[in-house]
Amino acid sequence: MILRKKVIAGNWKMNKTPADGAVLVRDIVAAVGKQSDVDVVVCPPFTGLESAAKALDGSNVKLGGQNMHFEANGAFTGEIGAPMLRALFATHVILGHSERRSYFGETDELINKKVLAALKNQLRPIFCVGETLAEREAGSTLKVVQTQVERGLEGVSKDLAPTVIVAYEPVWAIGTGKVATTAQAQEVHGFIRGLLTKLFTEPVAQKVRILYGGSMKPANAPELLAQKDIDGGLIGGASLEARSFVELVTAAAAVK
Ligand code: 13P
Repeated sequence: MILRKKVIAGNWKMNKTPADGAVLVRDIVAAVGKQSDVDVVVCPPFTGLESAAKALDGSNVKLGGQNMHFEANGAFTGEIGAPMLRALFATHVILGHSERRSYFGETDELINKKVLAALKNQLRPIFCVGETLAEREAGSTLKVVQTQVERGLEGVSKDLAPTVIVAYEPVWAIGTGKVATTAQAQEVHGFIRGLLTKLFTEPVAQKVRILYGGSMKPANAPELLAQKDIDGGLIGGASLEARSFVELVTAAAAVK
């Protein structure tokens, strides 16, 4: 059996000044900066990357962006490219978050370009998928997720596929306090693992970490993280305070 190292990633969304972010990262580093049982990633807004990078320097905590353009540079006002993230010591980048899909019109095709660009630039994509409430109620959850996974990962090589981190975030569970049941989450995670097997082979699919996101909190995390295909969490609200974020890291480390 392959043991996949769990990942706890904090998506701060549009929160924290550089100074406030540095305080948060210093607190996280003080609590879990030396442990290596769980991959811990913080994803501040672009303006907070530099101060977060300084605050986590020398620790095991890793840095990620929340988005990027698929081009490295050029006339794309308001955007940033992968080499810019790399220059600030980011190793990860969240791509295709449902807020990018719904508020900023990101399509599967666009997200696919970003995934390929991230991999080309040695950034690990945290590639997000998930259905809306209407899609779940219509019984099309698996179909929606399948399309997102297949289109988003098109052209990814078998060699690089294990570096991709997939995040399943049911849109109806994001920021709502409504967490998916463990059965609902495991069903979709297992389904995604099956799709990855078809796309990349079984050994590759067994290496890919699939995170759950959507109102994950210290109280519900142990049960979710104990599911066989749930390899960590992408955390919004609970990543904005060191205490709850650290508790999530501890919960992930405790899963046998
Ligand atoms: P919440 O944890 O606030 O529900 O957000 C989840 C999320 O969107 C992480 O990317």
